Amino acid sequence: MHIYIHIPFCTKKCPYCAFGSYDKSFDMVSDYFKALCFEIKNYKFKEISTVFIGGGTPSSINSRYYEPIFEYLKPYIGKKTEITTEANPNSATFNWLNSMRKMRVNRVSFGTQSFDEKKLKFLGRNHSANDTKMAVFNAKKAGFKNINLDIIYGTKLDSKKMLEFELQNLLNLEINHISAYSLILEKNTSFENKPQFQKDSIVLAKFLFKRLNEMGFKQYEISNFGEICKHNLAYWKLENYVGFGAYAVGFNKNKRLYSPKDLIKYIKNPLQKEIENLDKNDLKIEHIFLGLRSILGVDSQILNENELKKAKILEKENKLSYKNGKFYNTNFLLADEIALFIYDDFTKN
Ligand SMILES: C[S@@+](CC[C@H](N)C(=O)[O-])C[C@H]1O[C@@H](n2cnc3c(N)ncnc32)[C@H](O)[C@@H]1O
Ligand code: SF4
Repeated sequence: MHIYIHIPFCTKKCPYCAFGSYDKSFDMVSDYFKALCFEIKNYKFKEISTVFIGGGTPSSINSRYYEPIFEYLKPYIGKKTEITTEANPNSATFNWLNSMRKMRVNRVSFGTQSFDEKKLKFLGRNHSANDTKMAVFNAKKAGFKNINLDIIYGTKLDSKKMLEFELQNLLNLEINHISAYSLILEKNTSFENKPQFQKDSIVLAKFLFKRLNEMGFKQYEISNFGEICKHNLAYWKLENYVGFGAYAVGFNKNKRLYSPKDLIKYIKNPLQKEIENLDKNDLKIEHIFLGLRSILGVDSQILNENELKKAKILEKENKLSYKNGKFYNTNFLLADEIALFIYDDFTKN
């Protein structure tokens, strides 16, 4: 089984970020973790394949809060369990990383965003390029072999030169995974309605993907490169996963389970979930979108006759390739357009 644990605290809210996190609620940390432990202890676990501690900023919380959680999960964690934590470069100290590593966390994902001080300032980050370098150094010292760095591209400050600068810095740090996200102007953030902040350029994205590939980071999903993260892969395969904590989402067969998007509500009742039922068509759309955005591909058996015809047209045009009963996307940047073209219900509307 796969589990996700949400930590909704950040030392500073970034102006572009719409994730469930607060920078002024640290007085609730103790109650939040009590509720989180209660929710986790209430669950009947089986062997755990992957754990992902996300946020928010897990490294903004003292490692001792995680101890009871890992103590409880210990019997279900094996040698092969992938356990990732997200962390911010300025709060992931050696002591924090070392304690997490001792609790068997074996993968760390740093929100680097950029190595350019001007771009970091533009993104409202409270860390420097040097903080990332120190964080990676400390993670290695603590024994982490699987290290991811998140970067953001497609900002008004990006150019081929800027991206090359980011890439050289990434390369120098000798890590094995990179997540590169194109800046999204999210609703209800300070970046909303600021199109001038974004440079939505296919030329730049293609350049970035090509260079990452040349550097040995194989693209396995539109935003992910390098050594495959098993937890991410499970999401895209539509495997079941359990979400713990406020804002967490879980998935079970044909149901999506949403935890409260409010700390007080969650602390009052950590077990409440809102349930969304997904029908066969919803699952089919997700399978198509996720399969085309990643190396997973789309099973031809789920397509009807007409959809199959359209997929074959794309295959002839070399936009899709076909192997062992599956269609694979050759250009992830076109994933959504291809999905919309193939799936019949969209053309009916
Ligand atoms: C859930 S966040 C947590 C990471 C961590 N708190 C940090 O920021 O260092 C994961 C990643 O999502 C990306 N992200 C968040 N908001 C974004 C946006 N509006 N556009 C593009 N990427 C975004 C950032 O790269 C961030 O590192
Ligand atoms: S990007 Fe990371 S640090 Fe910034 S607000 Fe979002 S979760 Fe917090």
